[in-house]
Amino acid sequence: MKKIDINIKTKPINYNIFFTEEILEQLNPKINGHKVLVITDHNVNQLYTKEFVKSLNSDQNNLYKFVVKPGEKSKSLKKLEDIFDLLLDKGFNRDDYIISLGGGVIGDLAGLAASTFKRGLNLIQIPTTLLSQVDSSIGGKTAVNYKNIKNVIGTFYNPNLVLININYLDTLSKREFLNGFSEIIKTAFIGEKHLYQLLTKNSYNSIIKKRKLLEKIIEKAILFKKQVVKEDLYDQNQRKILNFGHTIGHVLESNNRLNYKHGEAVTLGMKYASLFSVYKNLLNRKECDKIIKKIDKFGLPTKINKNIPFKKIISVINQDKKSENNDIKMVLLDGLFNPIVKKVSLSELKVVWSDFIEEDSSD
Ligand code: GLY
Repeated sequence: MKKIDINIKTKPINYNIFFTEEILEQLNPKINGHKVLVITDHNVNQLYTKEFVKSLNSDQNNLYKFVVKPGEKSKSLKKLEDIFDLLLDKGFNRDDYIISLGGGVIGDLAGLAASTFKRGLNLIQIPTTLLSQVDSSIGGKTAVNYKNIKNVIGTFYNPNLVLININYLDTLSKREFLNGFSEIIKTAFIGEKHLYQLLTKNSYNSIIKKRKLLEKIIEKAILFKKQVVKEDLYDQNQRKILNFGHTIGHVLESNNRLNYKHGEAVTLGMKYASLFSVYKNLLNRKECDKIIKKIDKFGLPTKINKNIPFKKIISVINQDKKSENNDIKMVLLDGLFNPIVKKVSLSELKVVWSDFIEEDSSD
């Protein structure tokens, strides 16, 4: 037997995240002389992209826009193929740019297009929702959904630059703002103690009124995620803690009858994972109550709005990429601020599921 040892030293991954109201100042020098495709959705197009494209200091003949319908349905292979057709037709090469201007759906779709076309184009993320500013634009995950399974086709591909302008958040509805705020609350529970204190001291109203405070909160969430992702870009170990609340969250989110947004489903998932942690004697009931109270304080759901039979939950979990035979890996809390990843069995999940539903239907 012959053995050929390939030991490739990869370049360190290094990119900047700027908080800025002057996005164009950062962007224009980079894209000058290159082809640029801006990917966006119809809502963001009306609000921002039309003006944004006009102000890009790039040859307008080399500037293209691809606009999709808002929502998860646009994270599809069909849309990806349409983007590839455009990139081929316009002769894009590896030194050209894709700019994602929008929320998580746009970031994931644009990221996957950028990472796969000709094995990688330059990518600039400009997240316009709170969810994408604190979570999906950081860490290089890209994806489309396939056969109703969320994020099942994707890559890890880091952007060249992330530009965050919190003024974009002004046009979000309260529901959409809270959709992202859920990931901020999650960050506090899984270890960002200072963020937890800020969320204890401040209400929703004070946070949205005080720009500096909001910026500080967003920055803390990003820095925490950066630290986790830096150690485990490919989601093999420590990065999994970012999925606190996501196991059950994804199941609830994918059930159309329930009509939950990602963040709403994740807060319910965090409540479930906390109850499960109590069941496993990892978390005490007082800490679990603190978690539920904090979620409730910001107006995110802690009570499921319809009774879901457990077998419906199982069928989605079985499709989920995190499941292994009859066990799944779930993020639990071994005390507040101390997330751990544990294998749990579907039968244990069932026990806590009845508690979760009973608690909620008893009020
Ligand atoms: N949203 C979880 C992660 O980026 O790993």
